[in-house]
Amino acid sequence: MKKLLVTASIIALALLSFTGCNKKTETKSGEVVSRQTSNRTIKVGYAQVGHESAWRTANSSSFKTTMTPANGYDLIYIDADGNQEVQIAAIRDFIAQNVDYIVVAPVIETGWDEVLKEAKAAAIPVILSDRQMKLEDDSLYLCWVGGNFLKEGRDGVKWLEGYLDGKGLSNEDLNIVDIQGTLGASAQVGRTQGIEEGIQSHPNWNLIAQKSGDFRKDGGKKAMEEIIKEVGINKINVLFAENDDMALGAIEAIKAAGKKPGEDIIIITFDAGHDVFLSMIAGEINCACECNPLHGPRIAEIIKTLENGGSVEKIQYVDEAVFDQSNAAAILPTRQY
Ligand code: AHR
Repeated sequence: MKKLLVTASIIALALLSFTGCNKKTETKSGEVVSRQTSNRTIKVGYAQVGHESAWRTANSSSFKTTMTPANGYDLIYIDADGNQEVQIAAIRDFIAQNVDYIVVAPVIETGWDEVLKEAKAAAIPVILSDRQMKLEDDSLYLCWVGGNFLKEGRDGVKWLEGYLDGKGLSNEDLNIVDIQGTLGASAQVGRTQGIEEGIQSHPNWNLIAQKSGDFRKDGGKKAMEEIIKEVGINKINVLFAENDDMALGAIEAIKAAGKKPGEDIIIITFDAGHDVFLSMIAGEINCACECNPLHGPRIAEIIKTLENGGSVEKIQYVDEAVFDQSNAAAILPTRQY
């Protein structure tokens, strides 16, 4: 992955425009950078995905509690309820309001070029948070911070290999179902790729069903109910749930079908939030691959650096761990979400 240093230093290319009282510059590679040396309230527009999961709630709260008036921010927060069109309209509104920075957690990867060109024309820096975008020109955003979704998916596969090995089951046939997140979201794309690679590299692993639950608890429950109807509960050995909420919803469907989650069916999930730690302690979820939602302070740090004329990495992955029933009880008291 490209590790480009985006600099807002005085060697930045000559000033391209002035908007209001903010000084706007571009880097050599074309990213818009805003720099202001005098004290001011920083106006940030945040186009949030929605409120589909506990992870998302923790993410929103990390912005709202960090970007406060007391900390020098005027945060305009828009919850798009999973609708890309709402996010695009929010970005246009942020441009009209001449915010200092636009932050976007894109619902899906594609379809952003036009609106980001408009932000660039208005010389407003765009920072991506959480999910990534696929753009024809990467200079349309300044930087991105979030989890490495492909690594998370691969971590889930690695954990499963180790678990099976420990039980002497590595050579047994294994039927896996994958409940996917919102199709086209980079969190879905990466995690799905992770499990599909695992299936490819293990001839005795079979992907017997794959369905989206849209990163929601009710979506996970519904997807699992449909899968159980299609393939039969007795065929399922492993559930790969692409987030916590869908895993918790699917567990309800598994119990209703008369099976014990975590025993009859191995469950691997993503996010590693508080409720999943409780489920691991209760023996109902086997493994949780962490996806850290606390991006508010990280983006505030990026903005602070830019305001002081500093440099930021273009791509910023957050450190993430893997937890299971062996360490869940010891780790739970240290968790922030
Ligand atoms: O993009 C991050 C994902 O989105 C989280 O895994 C999920 O819980 C959220 O809705």
